[in-house]
Amino acid sequence: MSHTLRVGIIGMGGFAGSHHTTVARLEERGALKLVCTCDPRAAEFGSEREALRFAARGVRVFNDYRSMLDACAGELDYVAIPTPIHLHAEMHEAVTARGIPTYLEKPPTLDHAELDRMIAADTRARKSSMVGFNFIVERSRQALKERLLSGEFGAIRGGTLGAVWPRPSEYFTRNGWSGRLLVDGRIVLDSCFGNTMAHFVHNMLFWTGTPGLYSWAEIAAVRAELYRAHGIEGADTFFVEADLVSGCTLRFALSLAGSGPGTSTETVICDRAVLKYAVGGQIEISWKDGRSERISGEPFDGLEENHLAFGRYLRGEIPRPATTLEDSRPLVVLNDLAHISSGSIAPIPAHLVSHELDAKEQKDYLAVSDFARVVDQFLSRGVWPSYLGWRRDNGEVVTPSDLPRFGAVVRAMAGRL
Ligand SMILES: NC(=O)c1ccc[n+]([C@@H]2O[C@H](COP(=O)([O-])OP(=O)(O)OC[C@H]3O[C@@H](n4cnc5c(N)ncnc54)[C@H](O)[C@@H]3O)[C@@H](O)[C@H]2O)c1
Repeated sequence: MSHTLRVGIIGMGGFAGSHHTTVARLEERGALKLVCTCDPRAAEFGSEREALRFAARGVRVFNDYRSMLDACAGELDYVAIPTPIHLHAEMHEAVTARGIPTYLEKPPTLDHAELDRMIAADTRARKSSMVGFNFIVERSRQALKERLLSGEFGAIRGGTLGAVWPRPSEYFTRNGWSGRLLVDGRIVLDSCFGNTMAHFVHNMLFWTGTPGLYSWAEIAAVRAELYRAHGIEGADTFFVEADLVSGCTLRFALSLAGSGPGTSTETVICDRAVLKYAVGGQIEISWKDGRSERISGEPFDGLEENHLAFGRYLRGEIPRPATTLEDSRPLVVLNDLAHISSGSIAPIPAHLVSHELDAKEQKDYLAVSDFARVVDQFLSRGVWPSYLGWRRDNGEVVTPSDLPRFGAVVRAMAGRL
């Protein structure tokens, strides 16, 4: 394999546009060469094609990914798939059937049974596909996980993820699948937990995964309450508790509701220290003996770092991609069990939700009364919103043996049984 890897990108707009910009930059540095791209709306991307100098770079453009693969498969070292979630499996299937590995955007799928089929399909490719969870390649993250594994902080006792990224109502109308449970009868399950902030959920499973650096925790049991503030089919607010096979418990509170600045903190509680990791690589270690340690991460361009790391793997310089399809299984299982446990998605009580117009953006947000306290009480003490009157029923405790109920639960949630 030559130094310059030859790439195809399925999709041209949305996050595929960011892949194009990154690949163009890496092409200038001689690391990658974009051979081809496609989008059913290719004709609408005239200005992008010009700005990215497709003609001068000799990039072939197609309307359909199958025609693109028929014409160009022999010239491709890998194909990036940054397209809607419910199209990932069929695109991954078509690419790997030609022996080509993929850079598949996260989440690979949110259906555990489909993930199993994708894992099997991936074995036909020359090398493993990589799933685009941005943050596993961060050097400061990997160094901290090595310290966790060495036992320096003592045994891991638990962890929490608090992540609130307020999104305006229009966020859910930007495409045909945002906030949807099903599209064309296919499982999408788009949400903050499975998609928008799935990076951080995957990170929590990475921190607590043993025995090696590239290990993700196995899920033993899950209890969850799913809510919505926005008028969407799926959930925009998740409270989830997961018991891991290792014996410790993780709590997650994630939401796209609310207003004001976004926050996201990954916390790992160990016998001798509490570790807090904020995206951007700011690490705070509070030792039980009173010492504290702060580490600032280096500037980090997730897409660029991940394309470069995948390239190093494809050239045989490193043994594995940062996240494989198999490594994504704990996240997908956790997400599916959270839906099964909650059984339904309850509206956040209307008297707690108010419209807030962001004057600068001229966008409509939904503020939730006392939200920060509800999140904090859940993460620190396990107080479920249902105890505060958000809904009447609690989520049931479910285990991986409940996964066969997943399809029926999602269809019932979507009112399509
Ligand atoms: N890693 C990250 O930080 C990050 C950030 C945002 C989005 N994403 C992921 O990227 C993926 C795409 O998300 P998005 O919001 O950009 O979606 P999107 O709906 O905007 O779609 C992206 C592009 O795919 C194209 N597309 C749709 N159907 C196609 C088809 N049949 N063939 C070829 N192209 C097709 C669309 O026209 C669009 O140009 C998702 O998996 C999402 O989770 C990742």
